[in-house]
This record gives sequence, C-alpha cells and structure tokens, in this order.
Amino acid sequence: MRVVLGVSGGIAAYKAVEVCRRLVDAGHHVVPVMTDAARRFVGAATFSALASEPVPDGLWEGGIPHTRLGQTADLVVVAPATADLLARYAAGMADDLLTATLLATRAPVVVCPAMHTEMWEHPAVEENLAILRRRGVRVVEPASGRLAGGDVGTGRMAEPRDIVACVAAWFGAPGDLQGRRVVVSAGGTREAIDPVRVITNRSSGKQGHAVAEAARDRGAEVTLVTASVLEPPPGVRVVPVESAADMEEAMRAACEHADVVVMAAAVADFRPKASAEAKIHEAPDLVLEPTPDIIAGLAARRRPGQVLVGFAAETDDAMARGRRKLDRKGVDLLVVNDVSAPGAGFDHDTNEVTILEPGGRATVVPLQSKRAVADAILDRVVARLQGESA
Ligand SMILES: Cc1cc2nc3c(=O)[nH]c(=O)nc-3n(C[C@H](O)[C@H](O)[C@H](O)COP(=O)(O)O)c2cc1C
Repeated sequence: MRVVLGVSGGIAAYKAVEVCRRLVDAGHHVVPVMTDAARRFVGAATFSALASEPVPDGLWEGGIPHTRLGQTADLVVVAPATADLLARYAAGMADDLLTATLLATRAPVVVCPAMHTEMWEHPAVEENLAILRRRGVRVVEPASGRLAGGDVGTGRMAEPRDIVACVAAWFGAPGDLQGRRVVVSAGGTREAIDPVRVITNRSSGKQGHAVAEAARDRGAEVTLVTASVLEPPPGVRVVPVESAADMEEAMRAACEHADVVVMAAAVADFRPKASAEAKIHEAPDLVLEPTPDIIAGLAARRRPGQVLVGFAAETDDAMARGRRKLDRKGVDLLVVNDVSAPGAGFDHDTNEVTILEPGGRATVVPLQSKRAVADAILDRVVARLQGESA
C-alpha cells in the first residue's frame, strides 16, 4: 500500500520514526509528511533516510503536492496526532501540507493521538475526536504510562508495533473475522463491601485481552468489556466495568448486534447483599447473594447465528463440570480452564484449555501463550460461524 505517514509536533514524534521503519518493513511504500512543529522534534533527514520517498518540503514546494499525495494514497496514518492537528483536521482546515493532504484524500485515515492527560481529557479534544470518528476516521487510542516531563497518565502514543498491527488488521489481507462484530469480556469483577474494600478473584484479564487482540488481528470490529486493570490492546473499543452488575449492563448493550460473544471474564458468583456507604471499622457479618447469570441471559437473548463462547475456570473435576456447564448455559463453545494445572490460568502468560462443543467434540489446546490459545478458540468460533458444528 502507499501510506502517507503524517507526523505532527508532539514529543512522540521520535516514536514515529519506528512506525515509519515498521511500515516499510511490512512492505508498504511510505511517504512521510511532517508539520513545522514536528520538525522541531525530529529531523526530516531521519524520516527521508528510512522512508520510501523523502519528506516533502511543504505546501509551497511546487506543483500541487497535497492533491498528488492525497489522491495517490491508499492510507493516511497520522502518528503522533497532536491536539492541534486533530482540531485543524476536525475543523476542515488545510493550512499546511498534512492537513491539506488529509482533506484531499479519499483514502482511509488512522490517527494516533498523543498528548498530556489534561489535554487528552479536555472536552475540545474529545469532541474533535468524536467528529472525526463519525466521519469514519479510525483511532488508535493512546495508552497510559510515562509522558514527557516525568508525568504519568493516559495520553502516551500507542507503541509503534501496535499501530502497525492495527493497520495490518484493518487494511491488510482480509482475515477470517473481517466485518464481524466480536464482543469479549475480560477480568475479574470487583464487588463492593464498602467504598474501600471489594470482593474479587484472581483473574488478571490476560486471556480475555488476548482474545480481543487476536480477533482484531483477524479483521473483527472488537468491543472489549473489561474489569481488568491491564492495558487493553489498541484498536479495540474498550468499555471499562467494575462489578458484575456493570458487566451485565455493558454486555447486554454491546451484544445486541454482535456476531460473536466471548465471555472470558471471571464474574463474581456472589456479592455482598448490601454495601456500606462509608468505610466499615469493625469486622462485618457479610451476607452474600448470587450475582446475575450474565451468560445465561445472553444465551436467552442471542440473535440468530450469534456464536456464544463461555469459560469455566475450575480446580477439580474440570471436564465433568465443564460438560455440565455447556449443557446448562446453552453456549456454542465452552472453554474449560483447569486453573490448578502448572503454567495455566490466573495471571500466567500461558494457558492450556479444552474447548467443548455440544455433540461431544472436544479440542485439547496444550500449554502455550495465551495469544495462541486465543487463536485456537477463534479457529473454532470461525468454524461455527461457517456453519460447521460438532
Ligand atoms: C516540548 C513540547 C512537547 C509537546 N508535546 C505535545 C504533545 O505530546 N501533544 C500535543 O498535542 N502537543 C504537544 N505540544 C504542543 C504542540 O507542539 C503545538 O500545539 C503545536 O502547535 C502542534 O503543531 P502541529 O499540530 O502542527 O504539529 C508540545 C509542545 C512542546 C514545546
């Protein structure tokens, strides 16, 4: 693909050098376009040396560079996208080569915002981004972590490898989940005892996040409903939740139009019947009540053709319990996770599971990375979508 790589003037411009290199390594023809502010952070010579063409001088270099660039591009990626660049693009301004190219192109556009947390959370930035999303611009959300000047917070540009992975997932060879809407839940819910304490479980959310990432890489439009505190994979829509009740509401809304639902979250089975409004100072007599059965509710409301995947984390008699859960919940696939096995389950980077299906089919997935396990689960999901049953 011919990719115009727009670089605007944020500190993350130094990371755009690696985005450029990775896009070239992935076989793309890359033309870097820098704003004046970007040139204060990184020299144009660096991009010119790594890209497929040198950095153009600017709007007035001769000819009509913005229409040439805009019309010949297959994709425009802006990394980093400053608050200023997002504002100018949302307003339809064309006062430099990058914004003029953005207006002169019909190619898809990806923006990778990067800025301090205060700027990222400013309503002006949120509204500009909402405008751009409505116009079809794809956003690779910033991560949280170290920012310029020693601050820490949300706003740090996504890692170059993640940006290039999003480009490959969205615009590369169509994956087997291309055009499918996939909803994944992840993490252990937290049920309040009082404003300070919660009941939770050992789930890290790593397996659910790996499923979301794998679905993204296979071309799906992914919504991740997550109770995990881990950084979600970029390029997926994230709905953060805390309790089982939050998760039920978020899943109900997200799953209405979904083709695939993967319920990898470890939802609390019980919660305190009442949670105190102020911090408790004496050991309380906790009375617990069951939480809503989210997956049974999703199964009851599922749209025709929707593939529903449940998880069972067990420590003993895992297979028998898994089979009973498969029958009881009305799901298409039940991923049995014996969390007592070495290297498997909570917080590990590896996992081993058995995928059960109605009719008796069982796929044993041996110990490997959670990402590889995610792909094994999605292989069975794709088979079910294609009409293959057990
Ligand atoms: C040291 C420094 C770091 C900056 N980092 C950012 C940043 O990360 N994100 C951002 O939106 N603006 C940042 N700015 C402000 C932009 O450089 C400024 O808004 C500029 O006008 C952006 O121009 P451009 O969008 O045309 O590249 C920074 C400014 C300075 C001086």
